[in-house]
Amino acid sequence: MAKEYGYFDDAHREYVITDPKTPFPWINYLGNEDFFGLISNTAGGYDFFKDAKFRRITRYRYNSVPMDSVGRYFYIVDDRLVWNPGWKPCKTALDGYECRHGLNYTRITGVKNKVRASVLYFVPLGVKAEIQRLTLTNESDEKKTLKLFSYTEWCLWNGATDGENFQRNLSTGEVEIERSEWTAIYHKTEYKERRNHYAYYSVNCPVNGYDTDRESFVGLYNDLSEPQAVLEGKATDSLAHGWSPIASHYIEVGLAPGESKDFIFVLGYEENEEGNKFASNSQFSIHNSQLLTSLGERDHHIINKERAHEVIKRFSTVEAVEAAFAELQALWDELLSKYRVESLDERLNRMVNIWNQYQCMITFCMSRSASFFESGIGRGMGFRDSNQDLVGFVHQIPSRARQRIIDIASTQFPDGGCYHQYQPLTKRGNNDIGGGFNDDPMWLIFGTTAYIRETGDFSILDEMVPWDNEPGSEVSLMEHLRISFDHVVNNLGPHGLPLIGRADWNDCLNLNCFSNDPNESFQTTGNKTEGSRAESLMIAGLFVYCGRQYVDLLKSRAESKETKDEIARAEKEIEKMCKAVEQFGWDGAWYLRAYDYYGNKVGSHENEEGKIFIESQGWCGMARIGAELGMLDKALDSAAQLLDSEHGMVLNYPAYTTYHIELGEQSTYPAGYKENGGIFCHNNPWVIIAQTEAGRGNDAWTLYKKIAPAWIKDQDLHKVEPYVYCQMVAGKEAAKPGEGKNSWLTGTAAWNWLTISQHILGIRPTYEGLMINPCIPSDLKEYKVTRKWRDAEYVITVKNPNGKQHPDQPVVLPYAPGKHTYEVVL
Ligand code: GLC
Ligand code: GLC
Repeated sequence: MAKEYGYFDDAHREYVITDPKTPFPWINYLGNEDFFGLISNTAGGYDFFKDAKFRRITRYRYNSVPMDSVGRYFYIVDDRLVWNPGWKPCKTALDGYECRHGLNYTRITGVKNKVRASVLYFVPLGVKAEIQRLTLTNESDEKKTLKLFSYTEWCLWNGATDGENFQRNLSTGEVEIERSEWTAIYHKTEYKERRNHYAYYSVNCPVNGYDTDRESFVGLYNDLSEPQAVLEGKATDSLAHGWSPIASHYIEVGLAPGESKDFIFVLGYEENEEGNKFASNSQFSIHNSQLLTSLGERDHHIINKERAHEVIKRFSTVEAVEAAFAELQALWDELLSKYRVESLDERLNRMVNIWNQYQCMITFCMSRSASFFESGIGRGMGFRDSNQDLVGFVHQIPSRARQRIIDIASTQFPDGGCYHQYQPLTKRGNNDIGGGFNDDPMWLIFGTTAYIRETGDFSILDEMVPWDNEPGSEVSLMEHLRISFDHVVNNLGPHGLPLIGRADWNDCLNLNCFSNDPNESFQTTGNKTEGSRAESLMIAGLFVYCGRQYVDLLKSRAESKETKDEIARAEKEIEKMCKAVEQFGWDGAWYLRAYDYYGNKVGSHENEEGKIFIESQGWCGMARIGAELGMLDKALDSAAQLLDSEHGMVLNYPAYTTYHIELGEQSTYPAGYKENGGIFCHNNPWVIIAQTEAGRGNDAWTLYKKIAPAWIKDQDLHKVEPYVYCQMVAGKEAAKPGEGKNSWLTGTAAWNWLTISQHILGIRPTYEGLMINPCIPSDLKEYKVTRKWRDAEYVITVKNPNGKQHPDQPVVLPYAPGKHTYEVVL
């Protein structure tokens, strides 16, 4: 049996890591509102406020050796021995180690020489701070005198320039140190001028010393596994002036046999309004020996710390920490109660009831910005990504999904095109990347209609939403949807299929890019769209699928003549698109992928490589285009035959082995990776949904299990976290098929959620009511779903005594408040 590095503890909703040497850092996320932290199983990672680029609080060195070597560390000195509860950075062998990643919290415990150190990390609800509760226990029968050092390194706020502009950075760092019944180190770089925010790291007791300058603490020639101050057994009381400001507390701890002591560290962020930024003289005298600042006596800019003090005081006791932690747990009880399955398959229950829903929350919060594969400085929120993410999240906190829809729609252009990305802090579109991805507009229909089906809140359609955030340009959200629909209608190519623009969902199929210059990015380079004939079958399927959602929405609304005309018009366009796909988008045994700039086929048996692609099988299949002509079934058979493998379906087959300038980035990836023949987990669920459309419950279940983390067989091979989906698993043509990469931030989470909850288990909100339309493996005999929907609760038992895969007819349970119990027999 392959080695396991941990196990699921479903009762506590945790994944428990028992060996710190996981095949890759296995991380978790703290916070689900505005303050976030990434934390690995050895306490590596960093914090930021809202935006991982513009408000990076602590520093992290991506791409360093060994990897994941900065974080929030505690050093414990026991006699001459130095160790960390999370094993790193000292890597002193521990007598006991455990890391429990739970829902927005992580608890890391290390045991060495009969001292147990356990740290609970979490961000309390409504608080802009990470709490670290460290419990030290003496499990020996002798008195212990320990030395404790904390360590975290400040980032100079902008995650990008922090790693770049050293001629400035190394001179700007400033801190304040406050010593009273608590000890707090404040990071105030650039606070006196344009910033209105500061960060702090406090502990709820007086200390024996501190350090705020990295070199003084670590030593210029040392690394974090052997900080000089720790080795020498005492802090240097350094005051940072430029260079690299850090925060480290030094505490001497005496522990009687059996005794336990708690320390509460708060790593926080606060903002002050202009005019209220500085402490008045009466609040603070610089001569107060309790306060030290980098600039010293001439510092006229002492931070007004009222807000930080409130948080520090609030979390000065263990009881307060426990109460806040209980609140976080209660929130998750509530979130996970919206959809619960009970079946005999514990892995299914685990995915549905815990980990898939949890990951959906994280992708909703982060989009593709900050993970151990996304540096947080490259991308903000994606237009398409966020619309998909919210479909996995909308049942949890619909009001936040609503706001997200408005934010996203506000970055749209008046012709329906969209900024491809925007920054969460400013909510403005990113000019660096701009627009022109022709799938983007349809995703707004996808996200908005999912929101309304979930909530019944049609009022969102009347919200006045600007174009490109331009005040005065507002039109209703409904109008945004119409214009999104028309963006496809107005951008058709020679076959009546959608023009691809810069790319469609597959960012790397850059049919109009023609880049020969290694200094260009495929993502930002201007395209040669003049005269282009590049058309996308993926957008065609997307248009038919989301276009029908648009029509359903109109139908459920008013009966006015205007609406009826719009329905008729939209239906005609959808019909035309279906015909175009049947006529020009069918390759004989599967759906074509695209036409290139010159009008040549992509994803056809006529091509030498890249004969078949997954996206068009998924989308045209989900949209059932040509199903009556047998296309859907044939396409699914072809996908099974050519794309499938042990670990899931690859994106295209065979992968490209040479650079095709007319295809772009896709053909730059080595065969078997990423968009070139990798198993892009995001699009496997499209095929699964298409399989359910064809009534193939057994096939859908088999493919679902290949991708779902709960069924991972070989953790060493899979490499990344076994509790969440990753974006890509190396495909059958790669060197190591089955090796996962890019975990956490992927549309895979939302899509698998949609797939399992609505299409396999088949509980689907509609405008009319809750539809029960399972498509399951024939050997699944029974399951029960509890679904809280709007202000109703449905308890639905599905029974399958005769080994069927789906019902003859779906059932629609009308919406009515209150609790309802139903039984459906297939
Ligand atoms: C990444 C992007 C997503 C894109 C996909 C395929 O996951 O976040 O927007 O659709 O790759 O290229
Ligand atoms: C690259 C990646 C793709 C991602 C895109 C985002 O093209 O391969 O997955 O969506 O970058 O910019």
